[in-house]
Amino acid sequence: MANTFPNDFLWGGAIAANQVEGAYNEDGKGLSTSDCTPNGLFGDIVDRNNVEINSIKDRAIDFYHRYPEDVALFAEMGFTCLRTSIAWTRIFPNGDEEQPNEKGLAFYDKLFDEMLKHNITPLVTLSHYEMPYYLVTQYGGWGNRKVIEFFTRYAKTVFERYKDKVKYWLTFNEINMSLHEPFTGVGLARNSSKAEIYQAIHHQLVASGRAVKLCHQIIPDAKIGNMLLGAIAYPLSPKPEDVWATHLENHGWLFFGDVQARGYYPTYMNRYFKENNIELTISDQDREDLKETIDFISFSYYMSCCGTADDSLRQKGNILDMVPNPHLKASEWGWQIDPIGIRYLLNLLYERFQKPLFIVENGLGAKDKLEADGTINDDYRINYMNDHLVQIREAINDGVEVMGYTSWGPIDLISASKAEVTKRYGFIYVDLNQDGSGTLQRYKKKSFYWYQSVISSKGANL
Ligand code: BG6
Repeated sequence: MANTFPNDFLWGGAIAANQVEGAYNEDGKGLSTSDCTPNGLFGDIVDRNNVEINSIKDRAIDFYHRYPEDVALFAEMGFTCLRTSIAWTRIFPNGDEEQPNEKGLAFYDKLFDEMLKHNITPLVTLSHYEMPYYLVTQYGGWGNRKVIEFFTRYAKTVFERYKDKVKYWLTFNEINMSLHEPFTGVGLARNSSKAEIYQAIHHQLVASGRAVKLCHQIIPDAKIGNMLLGAIAYPLSPKPEDVWATHLENHGWLFFGDVQARGYYPTYMNRYFKENNIELTISDQDREDLKETIDFISFSYYMSCCGTADDSLRQKGNILDMVPNPHLKASEWGWQIDPIGIRYLLNLLYERFQKPLFIVENGLGAKDKLEADGTINDDYRINYMNDHLVQIREAINDGVEVMGYTSWGPIDLISASKAEVTKRYGFIYVDLNQDGSGTLQRYKKKSFYWYQSVISSKGANL
């Protein structure tokens, strides 16, 4: 069995605009849903048109101004790929304008040029946990069909603008999360009914299909994928009731991949919709749009969970309510660590879809200590990532086609769920405290050198 990864394997890291850029109101940018959730996607929703607040995300790690330094550090680690997202509100500040904001477009031109200068391939998410807040207040978010048109205009604009620079695209980050947090996912109130949420999701799936079609038309040599929160569940016990409950639990997220990879709704949803009084409005044109299937499947993987018929065992995780696995240890944030889970997930997805797979998020959020001599000894992170990469190599040897690996947060950033700075994921430490103080100076952690050697050895030294 090979102990190195394929020569064309893309190695790198993943960030998202709203978690790194800051500059939340510079150069014409509009307010996004992320700007209105200063304490993270589970925190309060604040109407910033009327209420003045300070949010740690307003400056974040100031990537908007410091990206040349950060991209150079990624290049020093040997990155061949960087996943980032475009903030929709930099391009269309309110979302419903006819013409884009040139200053916003110019920023991403500069960013992509900087990556290409260092031979780093951009992998760009069109929508990562943010949308124009105006579309929420004036149109009702994705619940309104008109948002499909606005998103399509935005997607077309960025495909046309960056067609020579960006050849790898993703539509919606963790598209299945809307079932758990509808405001961030589809711009709906948190107390929305299941029927309202699934209708909004339907609109988003249609928009995803349209983006795929446009991408193929405008950039024929590009590849565009979806993005799933890979929340694989194992049966808590061999009790048939638990096995069946687990099967249904996995449908909860596989459904999105089924639609995006096959081009139509899977029949198992018919019963679910009927039993939950959900009657979707689906036009003939919607069905046509859904037929535009993705080229590859991408997903995030942090942990696995368990499925059981006993709902009282659920515990609050980051995005999902999960049933913990008694055989696994957890991170400081209670996320259970399961490297074999990523091999299992890769095999499962490949057997189900027979499409190339891209791991676009994986990593360990932990508290790091900056020593007096400027070092950070994050062996726990090295161990976590090493063990996951070993299992990814196993999956490749199992015959799974894996395009690449972008670890989550190669530089410390603002966490999504609670806007914490102390939950650090990076190979690069950023001097920033939760109260917003700090020099923002960057320091290389021990894991920086470890990842550098993993990439240069193509994984042979794992
Ligand atoms: C994924 C998101 O859910 O998990 C990222 O796509 C997020 O945006 C990451 O940052 C880790 O979650 P958290 O809450 O620790 O930042």
